[in-house]
Amino acid sequence: MIEKINALLAEVETLAANDEKELEALRIKYLGKKGLINELMADFRNVPGDRKREIGIRLNELKTALQDRLNALRAELATHEEDHSGLDLTRTPYPVRLGTRHPLSIVRNEIIDIFSRLGFSMADGPEVEDDWHVFSSMNFAEDHPARDMQDTFFIEQHPDIVLRTHTSSVQSRVMETTQPPLRVICPGRVYRNEAISARAHCFFHQVEGLYIDKDVSFTDLKQVLLTFAREMFGADTRIRLRPSYFPFTEPSAEMDISCNICGGKGCSFCKHTGWVEILGCGMVDPNVLEANGIDSNIYKGYAFGMGVERITNLKYQVSDLRLFSENDVRFLDEFMAAN
Ligand code: PHE
Repeated sequence: MIEKINALLAEVETLAANDEKELEALRIKYLGKKGLINELMADFRNVPGDRKREIGIRLNELKTALQDRLNALRAELATHEEDHSGLDLTRTPYPVRLGTRHPLSIVRNEIIDIFSRLGFSMADGPEVEDDWHVFSSMNFAEDHPARDMQDTFFIEQHPDIVLRTHTSSVQSRVMETTQPPLRVICPGRVYRNEAISARAHCFFHQVEGLYIDKDVSFTDLKQVLLTFAREMFGADTRIRLRPSYFPFTEPSAEMDISCNICGGKGCSFCKHTGWVEILGCGMVDPNVLEANGIDSNIYKGYAFGMGVERITNLKYQVSDLRLFSENDVRFLDEFMAAN
């Protein structure tokens, strides 16, 4: 019997359990009612009196050792279980990569920021618009060739509904609901039916501005745009206005800034002219004011509109428009510092 006890004592340290179930099986095997210990206890009755003391002590040792071992295994299982519950396998591995703002958002926010410092508030409108807000209220006559200037996406079976080709539609919506003085900018996405290439896309982004009050002059427009250009491209930036045509403004102009790459000396970026075009502008045509419920005898206004992609190209020299809509992280990562 003493051999049996010694063999079991040696076994104690090797006992292992992977989970609660295995642990319980061990307990039943050794300490259960019909377990080995009770079996030994039964045998113990037959031990001759002179050996009872020696074997009794060993048997107790074995029982204590087994209990200690099983308790230790139980404690071990409990801490393991804690570890598992604290381990979130769905977590992103360290280091966590922070995303960047999209370059167009960075530049749009900067444009908004500059104009809000000049007192402009923001206005918003639908991208799927009716003909009235995109064209008619903006002084595009029914068969006016100017409608061809902007290749329009029409909604099938609803020739009156279009994807807006410019955010001037938002200007119209603001005018029809608000009386002057008005000072708003309208940032948003616009659509034109163009083949996608490095230089053109079927959608892009604009920020248009509208200012209507008594006694508004072209000088006011020029000063606001000069301030904008200098805030955006640096204090040395110069501007120049060239006569142009838009149905909704009269007179109309296109504005160039001194090339921000070569500082106006001439380089391949500005095709050696020293100037790059950034926006269209002009005094709001009285017809537009009248069409939108504003008395053109009392009020005057100016408007301007720029492409966010264009400004971004000039600021960051992105040569291919398609990069803006591909969401390639290698491209987006380059704007980490500009965030
Ligand atoms: N709406 C014009 C365009 O999309 C831009 C513009 C806005 C021009 C306001 C002049 C005044 O081309």
